[in-house]
Amino acid sequence: MTTLLEVEDLRVAYGKIEAVKGISFSVEAGQVVTLIGTNGAGKTTTLRTLSGLLKPLAGKIIFDGQPLNHVPAHKIVALGLAHSPEGRHIFPRLTITENLQLGAYLRDDKAGIDKDIQRAYELFPILGERRKQAAGTLSGGEQQMLAMGRALMSRPKLLMLDEPSMGLSPIMMQKIMQTISELKAQGTTILLVEQNAQAALSLADHGHVMEVGNIVLSGTGQDLLHDESVRKAYLGED
Ligand SMILES: Nc1ncnc2c1ncn2[C@@H]1O[C@H](COP(=O)(O)OP(=O)(O)OP(=O)(O)O)[C@@H](O)[C@H]1O
Ligand SMILES: [Mg+2]
Repeated sequence: MTTLLEVEDLRVAYGKIEAVKGISFSVEAGQVVTLIGTNGAGKTTTLRTLSGLLKPLAGKIIFDGQPLNHVPAHKIVALGLAHSPEGRHIFPRLTITENLQLGAYLRDDKAGIDKDIQRAYELFPILGERRKQAAGTLSGGEQQMLAMGRALMSRPKLLMLDEPSMGLSPIMMQKIMQTISELKAQGTTILLVEQNAQAALSLADHGHVMEVGNIVLSGTGQDLLHDESVRKAYLGED
C-alpha cells in the first residue's frame, strides 16, 4: 500500500491555546480514514492545518511524498489535497454550475472541467436539475452535496470532508454517507471528520478518536465500532 498522507507529532495553537497537541496518523491510498471526537477536540483545526490555512507549531505533514509545512494553501490544492469545509461555505448568489466551476479554479482544461461537472451531476442528480439556480436556494443537505462536488472538481488525490452530515435529516445523512461509500468504491481516498461516530466508523478503514487535542484511541473502523469505551462515549450506550 502507498501512504498518501503522513502526519507526525502535529501541534497547532491559537495564540497560547494549543488545540492540537502532538497527533500522528497516516492515510493509505484508497482508504477512508475518520477522525471522530466531541466538540473542540481539534478535528477542524487538524484539517485546516493540512490545507495550509493554519500554520503548525511543530510536527511533520508529508503528502504524496512531499513535506507540506511551508507550502501555501493554493499550492496544496494543486498538489491534490481538497477540503470540503465545516459549514460548507458555498457561494449562495452564484449558481450551482458556477460553484462547481470555482472548485476547478486551478485547472485550465475546459473539456475536462465540463466532464467533471457532468460527473458531479451524476453523483448528485439534484445538482444537475438545479444547475442554473442560485446555490443559496438549496437545502442544507443539497448544499452539502454541492460542497462535496466542488471539492471533487480539483480532482483530488485526497478528499477531506469536515462533518458532512452536520445538521442533516437522517435520510439526507444516509444519502451523503452512501455517496462517500461510492466515492471510496471509485478509488477516492478520503479523510472524514465526523461527530456521527456510528456512520463514520461503519464505512471507515481506520479511525482515530480525538479528545482535547490528542488522539486517544486508534483502530480499524470495525474495532472502534465495537470498542466498549467508544460505544459508551460516542454511540450513546451505557
Ligand atoms: N480561531 C480560533 N481561535 C481560538 N481558538 C480556536 C479557534 N478555532 C478553534 N479554536 C479552539 O480550538 C479547539 C479545537 O477546535 P476545533 O474547531 O478544531 O474542534 P473540532 O474538533 O472541530 O470541534 P467540533 O466538533 O465542535 O467542530 C477548541 O477549543 C476551539 O475553541
Ligand atoms: Mg469542527
